[in-house]
Amino acid sequence: METRTALVTGASRGIGAGIARGLLSRGVQVAAGYRSGRAGVEALGAEFRGQVLPVRFDLAAESNPVAEVVDHWGRLDSLVLNAAVWNGGRLDTLDPAEWWRVVETNLKGMAAVTRAAIPALVEGDRPSIVLVGSVVGIQGFAGDTAYGSVKAAMIGFARSLAKELARNDVRVNVLAPGFVETDMTAEIPERSRQRIASATLLGRFGTVDEIAKAAVFLSEDATFCTGTVLTADGGWSL
Ligand SMILES: NC(=O)c1ccc[n+]([C@@H]2O[C@H](COP(=O)([O-])OP(=O)(O)OC[C@H]3O[C@@H](n4cnc5c(N)ncnc54)[C@H](OP(=O)(O)O)[C@@H]3O)[C@@H](O)[C@H]2O)c1
Repeated sequence: METRTALVTGASRGIGAGIARGLLSRGVQVAAGYRSGRAGVEALGAEFRGQVLPVRFDLAAESNPVAEVVDHWGRLDSLVLNAAVWNGGRLDTLDPAEWWRVVETNLKGMAAVTRAAIPALVEGDRPSIVLVGSVVGIQGFAGDTAYGSVKAAMIGFARSLAKELARNDVRVNVLAPGFVETDMTAEIPERSRQRIASATLLGRFGTVDEIAKAAVFLSEDATFCTGTVLTADGGWSL
């Protein structure tokens, strides 16, 4: 059997690095997307020799990392859309240009990479697309109208695409994490962290490893799931 190949965007750190590591541990070759954090994907390459292809990818540049992956490995079986741009601020205070930057960058980047990946995926082995959304796209969060709009749009995008690609056996699913310990949440003030943790049934933030396991499940094991949204939030949204 030929080795499965995945492209994980935003694999230099945080959840994306965890997902890449989880896939690599399952024997999947990973094209690891980075924007500025090449050192992070090189560290993965040192850990899993010969199994990691660093690919530079910026959501804002509408670049196409898929061509590089297919040139190198001749195939693509799994796409994990994890990279995201975040900026918070209430609707009445966040600069409208910045609000649109968050929305446009994320949505354009997501659609461009997915569009580029479809020809390879339809030829792939047990092909899968996993979009890393957020419970904020389902429940909402004050200060996140831009980011929340993106994460909600990902669900409509994924469900429509699941219908478009079902005849090619490409599964499309969304993972919606709650609050997770990464650079993205590192600056949340302590009082807010405590409030979030106490509103979470399990009483804490999630770990990268916990979210990565859920993403690997959707990509590798959930062969009868398509168009689903898997929430991994410790019960925050209940
Ligand atoms: N952390 C949470 O609590 C949480 C909760 C729900 C959902 N999520 C979602 O999980 C995903 C990963 O979040 P995280 O917490 O792991 O974030 P993170 O630690 O801030 O890492 C962000 C990753 O995305 C990459 N990235 C940032 N801007 C990019 C751009 N313009 N183009 C391409 N890549 C870019 C970064 O690459 P460089 O290092 O190269 O800059 C990095 O690899 C995101 O989709 C986020 O919305 C996170």
